[in-house]
Order: sequence, then structure tokens, then C-alpha cells
Amino acid sequence: MEEHKLSVGQYDILINHDWQELLRFIEHLQPSKIGVLVDDNTERDCWPILSALNHSQNWTLIRIPPGEVHKNLDTCQFIWTRMMELGFDRHSLLLNLGGGVIGDMGGFCAATFKRGIPFIQIPTTLLSQVDASIGGKLGIDFADLKNSIGLFRDPELVFIHTGFLATLPARELRSGFSEMIKHALIAEQSLWATLQQLEDLQQVNWSELLPGALAVKRRVVESDPFEKGLRKILNFGHTIGHAIESYLLQGKDPALHGEAIAAGMICESWLSCELGLLNEAQLQEIRQYIDRIYPKLDLSAEVLPELIQYMQQDKKNQGGHIQFALLEGIGSAAYDQVVEQEDILKSLHYYLEHS
Ligand SMILES: NC(=O)c1ccc[n+]([C@@H]2O[C@H](COP(=O)([O-])OP(=O)(O)OC[C@H]3O[C@@H](n4cnc5c(N)ncnc54)[C@H](O)[C@@H]3O)[C@@H](O)[C@H]2O)c1
Repeated sequence: MEEHKLSVGQYDILINHDWQELLRFIEHLQPSKIGVLVDDNTERDCWPILSALNHSQNWTLIRIPPGEVHKNLDTCQFIWTRMMELGFDRHSLLLNLGGGVIGDMGGFCAATFKRGIPFIQIPTTLLSQVDASIGGKLGIDFADLKNSIGLFRDPELVFIHTGFLATLPARELRSGFSEMIKHALIAEQSLWATLQQLEDLQQVNWSELLPGALAVKRRVVESDPFEKGLRKILNFGHTIGHAIESYLLQGKDPALHGEAIAAGMICESWLSCELGLLNEAQLQEIRQYIDRIYPKLDLSAEVLPELIQYMQQDKKNQGGHIQFALLEGIGSAAYDQVVEQEDILKSLHYYLEHS
């Protein structure tokens, strides 16, 4: 597998580097204690790879149950309590071994414990490798709202090993792929062309594809680390997608993050077209591509107004207006686009009727 290295601000992202480099990096930090945050699945499938490394005997596992439903304050309390019990001080290190839930929540717990201890992201899902582990956004869900409590803090290092994806369930792989689609649509037309050639996600050579998709996020995040401007384009698909995700999280059949974002991207492409930023042929191209990969979500027309209520809580809103990042053609995006509620509803109807 080919090695790649990208730097973002003060930290590096190493893709498929030798594990010894991770060990050397940790040694250089001279941590007083090392904890490894895992969920049941990453303990089973990913931890054996790390624990086989020589130096890991003194690493202590902190286990939490898997899934977005546990990305909350109760789980944080559990993690902070474990760190207290283990005698963590400000020189202790937390390794977040898992997907976006582990990375966001483990990073949040580390960044707030004793005013902040160092942490390393070791992302194990496609979603976290291509998106969540980069850019310093950490947080948890609160009061039924996605990522409503959190902060920005950079990790010491992001260590990506695409071999972890071998055990990832196909549905999770497909979910993560939606953030790659988003990166292509907002900023990299050539990546969009490449993605369209892919026949079967199970056969993709991720170590080849990941660096290009990551470079898009790196470029955007570096130019605007605290989301004052350009970084908002990364929210394409997320204003409506997060509302759908939050709503379905309350029911019996929650959607995975990337599945909700895929639906959100169809709705927000429709809005882009409605505002004259995208043409009809481009809208069709995007919708047909996403429909080919993702199943239609279980939403009925009656619940659509409820989704607007979720959007009214969106972190990006200003002065009571719901703000969007929308496509300006394929491969470019505009942010701070205010859209009327009536059009948001129409975009959701478009999804229900055409996808
Ligand atoms: N911080 C950011 O910038 C950012 C960006 C995008 C998404 N996110 C967040 O990321 C989260 C979604 O991340 P996710 O999709 O990785 O979810 P996740 O962390 O819940 O992981 C998905 C599932 O895969 C399992 N898993 C993880 N790695 C595995 C492996 N290698 N083999 C087998 N099973 C494995 C997990 O246990 C879990 O059941 C959301 O909470 C979202 O808000 C954050």
C-alpha cells in the first residue's frame, strides 16, 4: 500500500505509513499514561492490529458501546470518569480508535479533560478517514440535536490505515462514501469524474482514492480553520441531512450519517438548481448517481414540516435565517445562501417524489 502524508496546520495526516512511525511519534510525546478509546466493534476488529505492536502493553482500553445514540453526555461522563480512575494527568494521551463517533467524542473528552490533554485520531471507518478525523471539529449530540455541544481542537496526529476498512460492514462503507461525493461536488470536478467510474465500492482501492479526497478537505480547512467563511461549503448536504438524521434518530429505523447526507445532497442540489446556481442536467446527473448508490429513506410528506424545526436550530443560521452551502455547478460551491422555508419544503418533496 502506498504511503501518503498531508499536513494540516500543526499536525500531519499519515496514510498507510508503517505502524512503527505511530509508535515513534507516541514515544516522542512521552505521555504519562496512554488510553485507547474503542467501541465494541473496533475493540473486536481494530484493536488486535494495535495490540500486536510491541509497545502497547501499557495502553489501557476505555470501552464504550457503538453507535450515534451513544454520542452523548452520559458517555462523556463515563469516559471522563475512567480517565480520572486511571490517574490521567495533562501529559496523558488518548488514542481514538474508531469511526466518527469515537473521534468526535473522544476528541471532545480529551480536549476538555483537565483543560485539554493530547489525543491522536486513528480513524477506522471510511467516513472518519475521509472527513471526520480532519479539521479539528469535536463534539457530541445534545437535546436531540446533532453535534450541538463541542469545540475546535487539533489532534497531535491523524494516523490512517486503510486496511481497517476490510472489516467495515458494506452499509457503513457506503455511508462514508457520501462525504467523498460531497468533497467532489463542492470542490473537485475531476474527483467527481473518477467517482463515476467506480462500479463496486467493495472493490475500490481506497489507498489510491483517499489522498485526493482528503486534500479537498485539507485545502478548505486550512484556509478557514474556524468556519468563518469558505469552510462552510463543507456543510453542503448537511443542513437538510442533519435534520433528517436527527429526526430519524428518534425512531425505530435511524439512518446512518452518510445516508442522511446523501438525501440532503439531493435536496440541496435541487435548491441550487432552483436558485439558478446549478442547471437541470447537472441536478439530474447528481440525483441519478446518488439514487444508484443509496436506498430511499423512510420519510413521509407529513413529517417534512417537522424537519424544518430541526433546521431552525442549525448552528450555521444567522438572524433566524436558515443558511445553506449550495453548488455553483459541479466542483464549486457558495456559502451563506439564505433559502425560504417554502423552497426547503419543495426540495424535500422533490426527494420524496423523484428519488
Ligand atoms: N468532526 C467532523 O468534522 C465530522 C465530519 C463528518 C462526520 N462526523 C461525525 O461522524 C459520525 C459518523 O461517523 P461514522 O460513520 O464513522 O460512525 P461510527 O463511529 O458510529 O462507526 C460506524 C460503525 O462502524 C463500526 N466500526 C468502526 N470501524 C470499524 C471497522 N474498521 N470494522 C468494523 N466495524 C467498524 C463502529 O463500531 C460503528 O458501529 C457522526 O457522529 C458525525 O456527526 C464528524
